[in-house]
Amino acid sequence: MSRRPLMAGNWKMFKTISEGVDLVKKLSAQTADVTDRDILVCPPFTALAAVAQAAKGSTIAVGAQNMNDNLSGAFTGEVAPGMIKDAGASHVLIGHSERRQMYGETDALVNKKAKLALEQGLTPVVCVGETLAEREAGNTFNVVERHVMEGLKGFTSAQAPSIVVAYEPVWAIGTGKTATPAQAQEVHAFIRRKLEALFGKEAAQVRVLYGGSVKPDNIDQLMAQPDIDGGLVGGASLKAEDFARIVKFQKISA
Ligand code: PGA
Repeated sequence: MSRRPLMAGNWKMFKTISEGVDLVKKLSAQTADVTDRDILVCPPFTALAAVAQAAKGSTIAVGAQNMNDNLSGAFTGEVAPGMIKDAGASHVLIGHSERRQMYGETDALVNKKAKLALEQGLTPVVCVGETLAEREAGNTFNVVERHVMEGLKGFTSAQAPSIVVAYEPVWAIGTGKTATPAQAQEVHAFIRRKLEALFGKEAAQVRVLYGGSVKPDNIDQLMAQPDIDGGLVGGASLKAEDFARIVKFQKISA
């Protein structure tokens, strides 16, 4: 089954409102001819509404990088799912490794946030992936299995097509050390089998993105892998030309 590619940019803690609006406008001009793949940008909260407004009428969807696991309440500094929707976003990153590592997000919290996102009409992009120490200790598959099985626990097969998974080996994020296409494919195929265990045949509809030093010069090889359905791109999504080239990856055979 062929899944529609999803090319996502994670701007992290970069871009003011005016810079973000400028970037999304440039990106939309440079990707106006793209019809066979989905494009998503995830600005910081402060720029979310303005970027969503600027992206209106284009094919670019907008997502948040995080959300709180409650609908509202006394949670100083946090942002609720309804507020993210209200700002014009359709997606939200959940459990990015930077949140797991620096802000203590657990699999249980990731699961709670992902469920709430979906209930509130946001597409959760659930991030999974091992650290360098975990890979070197031979624990890659254990860690990824736990992230997938715990993070997506309790979802129904009917909900599966509305979930996106992003495999991001932590050692490849921001390091310039991309996983080789074969290394990435190996884990993506493993994730697909875990999704099958959870969702049966609906697993074939779940898009699994690769993230970690995706660049214009490696995206074609990555996208040639059968179980890689898109990219989650940090650094290279901050320049319109680079991200547009990534969106416009060339179809080559693996
Ligand atoms: P990178 O970040 O492309 O800069 O490695 C990817 C991510 O953290 O989503």
